[in-house]
Amino acid sequence: MRRRAALLIGFALAATACSATTGEIAATAPAPTTASTATTSTSGAPSPAADRAAGLASGEGPPGQILGIGDDYFPQLGNPGYDVEHYTLDLVFDPEETELGAVATITATATADLDTVNLDFSSLIVSAVFVDGAAAAFTAIDEELTIAPAAPIAAGEDFVIDVEYSGSPRTAGSAAVPFGVGWQTVGNQNYVVAEPDAAHSWFPANDHPLDKATYTFRINVPEDVVAAANGTLVDRLTDLGRVTWVWELDSPMASYLATVVIGDFTIVEDPAAGAVAGVPIRHVLPAGTTVTDWPGLERLGEMVAFLAELFGPYPFANYGIAVVNGFGAALENQTLSLFDRNVARSFYFEDVLVHEAAHQWFGNSVSLGRWADIWLNEGFASYAEWLWIEREAGRDAMERAIAAERADYAVAGLTAPGVPPSFDLFNRAVYRVGAMTLHALRLTVGDDAFFDILRTYAAMFADQSVTTADFVGVAETISGVELDELFDAWLIDPKVPEFPAAGGS
Ligand code: ARG
Ligand code: ZN
Repeated sequence: MRRRAALLIGFALAATACSATTGEIAATAPAPTTASTATTSTSGAPSPAADRAAGLASGEGPPGQILGIGDDYFPQLGNPGYDVEHYTLDLVFDPEETELGAVATITATATADLDTVNLDFSSLIVSAVFVDGAAAAFTAIDEELTIAPAAPIAAGEDFVIDVEYSGSPRTAGSAAVPFGVGWQTVGNQNYVVAEPDAAHSWFPANDHPLDKATYTFRINVPEDVVAAANGTLVDRLTDLGRVTWVWELDSPMASYLATVVIGDFTIVEDPAAGAVAGVPIRHVLPAGTTVTDWPGLERLGEMVAFLAELFGPYPFANYGIAVVNGFGAALENQTLSLFDRNVARSFYFEDVLVHEAAHQWFGNSVSLGRWADIWLNEGFASYAEWLWIEREAGRDAMERAIAAERADYAVAGLTAPGVPPSFDLFNRAVYRVGAMTLHALRLTVGDDAFFDILRTYAAMFADQSVTTADFVGVAETISGVELDELFDAWLIDPKVPEFPAAGGS
């Protein structure tokens, strides 16, 4: 409430804000009159703050030199110097025109003295920025929104940034996957698929899993349209033929897992599955369908309970899936995994249900500190599929399935899962040889130590970000075995090793 009031005052004070559209390159020579050197101040004259924003974004080198949060695979992604606590995304969406008008309110703490604050943002047009309610100068160049508050922010200070923006959200190219990521419009459905680097194509963000935050989504749509997001539906406010759906996510989330699902859907509670899972289960299904229209979905509660037995308590307040058209795959958006309807109709739906549920522990609660370690997400979620086979069909059936896959992968000539090509992060070795790596560990240390390792790792790094070394550290401590050689052979060496003979105790 207070935030909104402050925002309106700030808006009234704002003078001429303008911004570059994406794709515009900052001038290497001073180019004072173009939109790419946007300046604004309450007096209308360039201020020292405006100079700082323009200077940092365009005067001190090409934008390619703006440092990200420190991920080798995505040098521009994320930003150092502050820590986001919470995003409130206030979205007004027009499905007819695919038009978005938005205010992102970002609550953060400075971890360094900041003359300017950088957010990742692309594709949409920024009209105004406020820092602690006061209009601030900004530049929007390439994928960086550089904000210069009226006064510098000291390390340790909390601050609130409001970014007003609008436009037609569209998919963005990714450096890491060979298809468009971000906002998807398919017929009358809209939804977000942002992994790994497209969150900042629909909201301004510190777009790296190193900086997780909680979220509020307020999505205003025509009255006959359903709008869902991560977390829990806490309000549904109707006014003048429109409805605002308010969703709260109270556990920290990496930006790439933030999603909205908008269209002709129905929100379906499954109390029976929730009772089994131990947390509420709710789905976002095509209007007119319910759980029983998606055979296999009725087992999700059982799956969550099974994984909780192995990995420790389910990490979030609720869970469920959204079923959409035209995505072609599935994605583990936090508390609300997204499924293509054809995946939900396929013979492998059950495997994928287990896979995305397992990501809630591995990937979502325990996050990546760097994208190169993507096997920590995909190898673990894939191993969960084998654990489900073990439960359903027995250990021998599981061993046979794994051995057959190992034989295929051994001759496939793939890159090793621990060193994926940056342009093909989600290649199948990351998933399947990543999962075999865990199986090799299990055979080496024995079942007791292995599941102790998984549970300890999940508990110790819940809501945090990790690297492979953190996992290896836990595995060595608990097993008492020196494991560098095993992990190097499976993760780094392109040759797929033989499985060790079963050991442990
Ligand atoms: N993490 C997803 C999974 O569990 C894969 C997503 C691949 N697509 C993407 N847009 N990143 O299978
Ligand atoms: Zn996955």
